[in-house]
Amino acid sequence: MKKCSISVISQHLLLLKILLLLGMALGDPRTQTVQIMCGNQREHNTTVYVPNFVSTMENISEQMRTSGFGVARTGSGPDTNYGLAQCYGDLSLLDCVLCYAEARTVLPQCFPYNGGRIYLDGCFMRSENYTFYEEFRGSDDRAVCGNTTRKSTAFEESARQVVQRAVESAPSNGGYARGGVSVSGTGNESAYVLADCWRTLDENSCRKCLENASVSMLGCLPWSEGRALYTGCFMRYSDRDFLNKEVGNGSSRGTIIVIVVSVISSLVVLVVGVAIGFYIWKHRYIQKKRRGSNDAEKWAKTLNDSSLNFKYSTIEKATGSFDIANKLGQGGFGTVYKGVLADGREIAVKRLFFNNRHRAADFYNEINIISSVEHKNLVRLLGCSCAGPESLLVYEYLPNRSLYCFIFDQERGKTLNWDKRYEIIVGTAEGLVHLHDNSKTRIIHRDIKASNILLDSRLRAKIADFGLARSFEEDKSHISTAIAGTLGYMAPEYLAHGQLTEKVDVYSFGVLILEIVTGRQNNRSKSAEYSDSIVTIVKLGSTFKQGLQRNYTTQI
Ligand SMILES: *[C@@H]1O[C@H](CO)[C@@H](O)[C@H](O)[C@H]1NC(C)=O
Ligand SMILES: *[C@@H]1O[C@H](CO)[C@@H](O)[C@H](O)[C@H]1NC(C)=O
Ligand SMILES: *[C@@H]1O[C@H](CO)[C@@H](O)[C@H](O)[C@H]1NC(C)=O
Ligand SMILES: *[C@@H]1O[C@H](CO)[C@@H](O)[C@H](O)[C@H]1NC(C)=O
Ligand SMILES: *[C@@H]1O[C@H](CO)[C@@H](O)[C@H](O)[C@H]1NC(C)=O
Ligand SMILES: *[C@@H]1O[C@H](CO)[C@@H](O)[C@H](O)[C@H]1NC(C)=O
Repeated sequence: MKKCSISVISQHLLLLKILLLLGMALGDPRTQTVQIMCGNQREHNTTVYVPNFVSTMENISEQMRTSGFGVARTGSGPDTNYGLAQCYGDLSLLDCVLCYAEARTVLPQCFPYNGGRIYLDGCFMRSENYTFYEEFRGSDDRAVCGNTTRKSTAFEESARQVVQRAVESAPSNGGYARGGVSVSGTGNESAYVLADCWRTLDENSCRKCLENASVSMLGCLPWSEGRALYTGCFMRYSDRDFLNKEVGNGSSRGTIIVIVVSVISSLVVLVVGVAIGFYIWKHRYIQKKRRGSNDAEKWAKTLNDSSLNFKYSTIEKATGSFDIANKLGQGGFGTVYKGVLADGREIAVKRLFFNNRHRAADFYNEINIISSVEHKNLVRLLGCSCAGPESLLVYEYLPNRSLYCFIFDQERGKTLNWDKRYEIIVGTAEGLVHLHDNSKTRIIHRDIKASNILLDSRLRAKIADFGLARSFEEDKSHISTAIAGTLGYMAPEYLAHGQLTEKVDVYSFGVLILEIVTGRQNNRSKSAEYSDSIVTIVKLGSTFKQGLQRNYTTQI
């Protein structure tokens, strides 16, 4: 086993190296959400609405990869779904894919409302049940001011000037303008601006939108930051250079060549892997087809009869009717509560957000998988409740919560010395190896991150939350329909092409190791506006060493 995990780690470091090289080509995808606005009409029929929405997002995804913009329509009747997404003009296509991936993970929060828009700092996305492509003003239009620093009147003047220029030039320039001017008399201060109209607007509508947006945005002065979130356009000014460098200057040539080489070599590995995987899948799929298809119903029946089944009322009682005081956290598909059974056993209950048929398949899938896999580094599933009004999963309770509570906390972090940290890394690797290589089903976790690594009473790692897991042979094409996972931990090839292999977990695991070693969180909260991802920082080197030193000294 030990040998096994070490080979995983070294394979991993190789991958990480490739990805660090990849990282150099990336600018800043600016995936911070500025605001999400949801409509107020509920969808008409969930079984029709959800697949329409997913299919629209998937269709747009293809277009984003090639042009940084996409519109799509799916379905008919009141649950027809119209979508539009666009990256702002200074993002590279690679960054655009990252930004869109975040947008499409967050926008579904608007469900069950049938419309919504999300403004990120790098891209925009909107979905409705009618054609809205020519709208450019609306009642939700607003400016959002950043209020950290007050600027001088000289800055105000420069900002107005550069914003004005953008409003004038963008409409005839494909709806996009960027700019920066230095503020006179202040040495090295500058004002920067970005303006973008959605590409569905004509020149005239774009101009009207920007004129209106700029006026309300400039109301943010003298604050250092202002953004306008309008129906037809986005604008921002700032005292910092938030814009990505224009692509195409010679200095990055070398990097690009290295990247091409690494991409080709990893593609070769991937193609071979997919070919083998496809063969295995096809073989099993044919066998499976013979067995019939109503697996979910069978599962429901099996579970009802099995020892895994808990009564809804039992769990409701154990958690104090899901008292907020018992809430342990929020997972991918549900909220987790602590509970105590009548016999004194402590449990963790995951209460799933969705209880409709669409999600039921995921639910049975999760139970199916977890109950078949046991390992010292995997959280144990005790059972579930499927018959009640909600879908609930019952896990063993781990008193020390997750790694997240330790490594990013100055005080609690001290209890994890280097030996413990090493043990946690190896334990996580062993758990992952078991998931990937166990005899019954190959499982890709898809959401490895600090908050999904729980710690038992002796601080041993246990991987939790298999909600997103799918076994290899059940995934029909190795291209997932809806990209899932947590941004910042997701492998670039997964984000860009939806290609799902074990490497997706290996990448996330690599990010996790960096976090465990440095005590720095990969994508820190939105309050730190432009924090770099840890992968970028490691690449830069110096901050990494500082982080190490800081960690080392706090521990000694
Ligand atoms: C929703 O649409 C499906 C498919 O058209 C239909 O079978 C179902 O009865 C509808 N549900 C409701 C509540 O209208
Ligand atoms: C997206 O939708 C258009 C029609 O609306 C269709 O022609 C196109 O093939 C779709 N693309 C994908 C990738 O589904
Ligand atoms: C959009 O959905 C709402 C609520 O379900 C419905 O009343 C309305 O008619 C729909 N609009 C269109 C254009 O179908
Ligand atoms: C900054 O904005 C936040 C939220 O919008 C607000 O609570 C706070 O009072 C503001 N601070 C200043 C100095 O205006
Ligand atoms: C130039 O910028 C740096 C940091 O951005 C600042 O510390 C320095 O004081 C500035 N110099 C002048 C002359 O404003
Ligand atoms: C912005 O739009 C609103 C409503 O459409 C209008 O009343 C207002 O005059 C406009 N402002 C400017 C500066 O165009």
